Amino acid sequence: MVLPADAVIRECMVSRFLMAGNRDYNFHRAAKAATITASRAHARHGRRKAWPGYGFPVRRNAAEMAMQVLDFAQAEVDPREFRNALGRFATGVTVITTRTPAGKCEGMTANSFSALSLDPPLVLWSIKRDAPSLPSFQEAGVFTINVLTQEQADLSHHFATRQLDKFSEFIVPDGQNGCPLLENALAFFECRLQQTIEAGDHLIMIGEVTRAGYDEAADPLLFSAGRYAIAAALPNRDARDDLASMWEGLG
Ligand SMILES: Cc1cc2nc3c(=O)[nH]c(=O)nc-3n(C[C@H](O)[C@H](O)[C@H](O)COP(=O)(O)O)c2cc1C
Repeated sequence: MVLPADAVIRECMVSRFLMAGNRDYNFHRAAKAATITASRAHARHGRRKAWPGYGFPVRRNAAEMAMQVLDFAQAEVDPREFRNALGRFATGVTVITTRTPAGKCEGMTANSFSALSLDPPLVLWSIKRDAPSLPSFQEAGVFTINVLTQEQADLSHHFATRQLDKFSEFIVPDGQNGCPLLENALAFFECRLQQTIEAGDHLIMIGEVTRAGYDEAADPLLFSAGRYAIAAALPNRDARDDLASMWEGLG
């Protein structure tokens, strides 16, 4: 099923996720009210500190919480449940492209992308061992990470669907490493494949970034719990202040 971007955005606006929403949707007031309620409840129950400011409100009491616990040491865990747990970690969405020496283009949707090192500049992602495109990525020795914008959910779907030639409908320019560079992406990272590491049913691909670019004006496509979503900034929480004072790491 192809998800048109406006359908995704509509979906997100009515989503239960706080992270999904429309910039016009004013959750400041709701957040503040809920936080005050939570703060008073905490005070009543003998906590000394009130909740600082309002950011994410406490939305559920303990009785309402529905934590599913998967104990791998005790019993066989249903892989679907493990996927459900992993899916709670919201990610961006990328399309990773390559071109073999014979000129064959491949592209696959991946949300396993991660920053790895600033110096030297390294990134990583993981690919299923049985992915049909894996031999091309290994043979080419180069790849490009194309980070998608919130308007590109249909592209994500396209490159997540097995087809003989995913590029037949597009005219895609090549980047400096010869790999397809998707137009209107949020960011791109052109890489040389530096190392692969076998890990379970996946292969970790580590790339040395040779060129990168980003669009400051566009917004990311997100993926959370099996759904596409869009980001809404929290009020009064600019993490750049934290980064400057406490952490100079990645991202
Ligand atoms: C949001 C999303 C994220 C995905 N992330 C990955 C990933 O990180 N690694 C992977 O091997 N497959 C991932 N997939 C599945 C691949 O995109 C899919 O299997 C695709 O068909 C692989 O391309 P290929 O068939 O041309 O090899 C993801 C799919 C979606 C929809």
